Amino acid sequence: LREQDLAGRHVVISAGGTREALDPVRYLGNRSTGRQGVALAEAAAARGARVSLVAAGVETSLLPRHPRITVTAVESATELAAEVRAAGSDADAIVMAAAVADYRPAGRLGHKLKKQASAATRGIELVENPDILASLVAERPVAGQVIVGFAAETGDEAGSVLDHGRAKARRKGADLLAVNEVGTARGFGDVPNSVTILDATGDVLATASGSKADVAHALLDAVSVRFPTA
Ligand code: C5P
Repeated sequence: LREQDLAGRHVVISAGGTREALDPVRYLGNRSTGRQGVALAEAAAARGARVSLVAAGVETSLLPRHPRITVTAVESATELAAEVRAAGSDADAIVMAAAVADYRPAGRLGHKLKKQASAATRGIELVENPDILASLVAERPVAGQVIVGFAAETGDEAGSVLDHGRAKARRKGADLLAVNEVGTARGFGDVPNSVTILDATGDVLATASGSKADVAHALLDAVSVRFPTA
């Protein structure tokens, strides 16, 4: 199957974690390193795809170098949305592996916030970022385009990782949702990953664990079988 099964396909992948600026030196961010998204880009390119990798806050040394991978570096969710939309307009698949901030500071200060006027005493006003994945699903720019989301979950009193994943799959409506448990030594960083791949109804299609490359290939298998055959 694998070989060059993605030859001629254009795959857009978002990776990393967005950074929402508070002032010129500070941002609100998250622990995503971008490794899973980078592994997806490399795996897709190895299988013949042309890849647009939209990398949010990914360390330069982690970025892939491959003739079929175009990397665009971004910071905020707003920038990421614009780049994913632009690249996605002719894409066969869009994989939203990036951890996107749900909120951003209401205003970005032009100067460094002074300690005396710090957020500790003032509070930080936040506004909601649009859900990029949900709007891609709603707009679906290309017929037959496969749209994939990620859900980093932790289990809690309200339910297991898979319970939360299933609910999210139905809510987001992406064709595929890769659910992974995050927390201590799982999910984020240079560690093995383990995901459950759900369809839009929340049904389990596959599970994959191992290196981030193994997980990437398993997810691309699930994408590849959804492509209409010529
Ligand atoms: O709801 P949650 O943030 O867990 O959903 C995660 C999925 O939604 C990821 O695929 C992420 O890239 C995407 N997302 C998005 N826009 C947001 C928040 C999350 O596209 N504002």
